Amino acid sequence: MEATSIPMQLSEPELKLLQTLVYQECGMYFDERRAHFLQDRLQKRLRACRLESFYSYYRLLTSREGRSELAALLENLTINETSFFRNRPQLELFQKVVLEELLRRKHQQRDWNLRLWSAGCSTGQEPYTLGMMLCDALAYYQLRNPLPCGLPSPRPLVPPPWRVEILASDISYSALRAAQEGGYSEQQMEPVDYMYRLRYFDRVGERYLAKPALRQVVQFDFHNLKTEYLPQRNDIIFCRNVMIYFDEAEQKRLIEKLYRCLNAGGYLFVGHAETLFGLSDKFRMIHQHNGTAYQRSEGDT
Ligand SMILES: C[S@@+](CC[C@H](N)C(=O)[O-])C[C@H]1O[C@@H](n2cnc3c(N)ncnc32)[C@H](O)[C@@H]1O
Repeated sequence: MEATSIPMQLSEPELKLLQTLVYQECGMYFDERRAHFLQDRLQKRLRACRLESFYSYYRLLTSREGRSELAALLENLTINETSFFRNRPQLELFQKVVLEELLRRKHQQRDWNLRLWSAGCSTGQEPYTLGMMLCDALAYYQLRNPLPCGLPSPRPLVPPPWRVEILASDISYSALRAAQEGGYSEQQMEPVDYMYRLRYFDRVGERYLAKPALRQVVQFDFHNLKTEYLPQRNDIIFCRNVMIYFDEAEQKRLIEKLYRCLNAGGYLFVGHAETLFGLSDKFRMIHQHNGTAYQRSEGDT
């Protein structure tokens, strides 16, 4: 066996130091159950950096020169599992109940701006799903509530006067790059039915590429949900399957920040295995179509 492939032993104090550093940097908490995963990824990075001890690796991560290595480590620790149309009952609630209420309310107020945020968007399947569903909901709404101005030809994806912005952010640069490219394999496209494929994707060789019109409504950017400076004035936030990796204290801080990132009456969607129960009483739970969403309640900001 080569000397470099012998796994280095991570002592208890070294584990604590690195665990705390990762937690402080991105909120991900590796408790005893997940410590072996952390250890495995640390081993890999240590080898890549050709360092001899975990302590010297910790010193590198906390130095000025180590900022890019810290980003590489966090990248290696994130779980990027995602899919198109993930949690369909919840998406049905999003399209049939939440968007319907939001469009009607905005229409009454003559506010034509819609801003969604997919926080922790991974490789883009979530924001593109939201883009397709939102554009369809807008077309259907416009059909039932035509505006006097009429529609230009060819019909744009977002009918005027509506303006749509879907911000999609993540802490992983490689996930963001893949999302921005917008190319997906047949296997990744499995949950996307043929009507959606035809309208929103081009077939390029073996892959499907999101059409430019769909890409135009989604903007990708880097945001670390651990920080205080997060995108404001959102009507809807999807933050699904992200806080599951945080501990309770960090989850509470995140929910509080997301509350402040929402417009009055805005909606928050969390993952199937996540809940706001016990974390915040500033939201009203909506449960319909077998899906759950949370609406920001007003009065106790
Ligand atoms: C399991 S994926 C979920 C993707 C998508 N939301 C879904 O439900 O299908 C979790 C994503 O959260 C991102 N993430 C983890 N910690 C983060 C942080 N502190 N700030 C921003 N994104 C983070 C990861 O990089 C990963 O892409």
